[in-house]
Amino acid sequence: MIGTDRPAAVALRGAAAELGGRTIWSHGSFEVPTGGMVCVIGPNGSGKTTLLRMLLGMVPPSSGEVDVLGAPARQGNPRIGYVPQRFGDTVGSAITGRDLVRLGHTGTRWGLGRSVDDESRVDAALDAVAGSEFAAQRLSTLSGGQQQRIAIAQALVGDPELLLLDEPLANLDLRNQREIVDLLAELRVTRGVTVVVVVHDLNPFLPHLSGVVYLLDGHPHYGPIGEVVDEELLTHLYGTQVRVVRTAQGDLFTGSG
Ligand SMILES: Nc1ncnc2c1ncn2[C@@H]1O[C@H](COP(=O)(O)OP(=O)(O)O)[C@@H](O)[C@H]1O
Ligand SMILES: [Mg+2]
Repeated sequence: MIGTDRPAAVALRGAAAELGGRTIWSHGSFEVPTGGMVCVIGPNGSGKTTLLRMLLGMVPPSSGEVDVLGAPARQGNPRIGYVPQRFGDTVGSAITGRDLVRLGHTGTRWGLGRSVDDESRVDAALDAVAGSEFAAQRLSTLSGGQQQRIAIAQALVGDPELLLLDEPLANLDLRNQREIVDLLAELRVTRGVTVVVVVHDLNPFLPHLSGVVYLLDGHPHYGPIGEVVDEELLTHLYGTQVRVVRTAQGDLFTGSG
């Protein structure tokens, strides 16, 4: 716990991830405080998705311990909402947005019938992402930005305390990227949800970030934003010279060259 009586959103103690007999990363010992917006960065194949899957209880740690919201990570945890990588490709495109959001809810409550309460939760989640207007359409007819809103709504419908998103800006144009970032920042405030996002580029999130989990040389670390937006660290992480620029308005940017 860090300066709060709420348990950390995520706490790793000596955690390691192994897939197919190979260690993906190890010596993970850090805490992500609750209530923040945190990006997860690291090279391709460094184990970012694996980390999210570990928080979801889908990949058990090969050593060490992993806690989520004060309890050991476990499958089917209704306190977590998840937006997987390449969401648009992986769901059947014939399903409507609304049906998909409803699945997100009953996904952790299978066996229960559809109730009025469920329907109002679906409505609330669609409202929260400004998705009510297009929710009746099939996914295949929606734009990338609209599909991503539906994906976020299905993650929200169980009213999670922790929202995990895996590269939610991939394949979106700049305007849609910006809108999704703003939406996540708003959800953090209005729903009090801790947001953890795997990204390739920190820049769209920098105005809102409280910290960064970075996978460096086979180990995951966490740093509050002031420590992590550092030229030397980012240069090492991306394997190419990175510059950090602060504008006269105080905005931070990172870039190469
Ligand atoms: N089911 C699996 N079995 C074996 N290796 C895997 C499996 N899934 C992923 N990997 C490997 O684990 C490494 C980390 O993958 P991943 O977590 O998807 O990385 P990232 O999201 O950072 O790109 C990669 O080298 C990937 O090829
Ligand atoms: Mg990945």
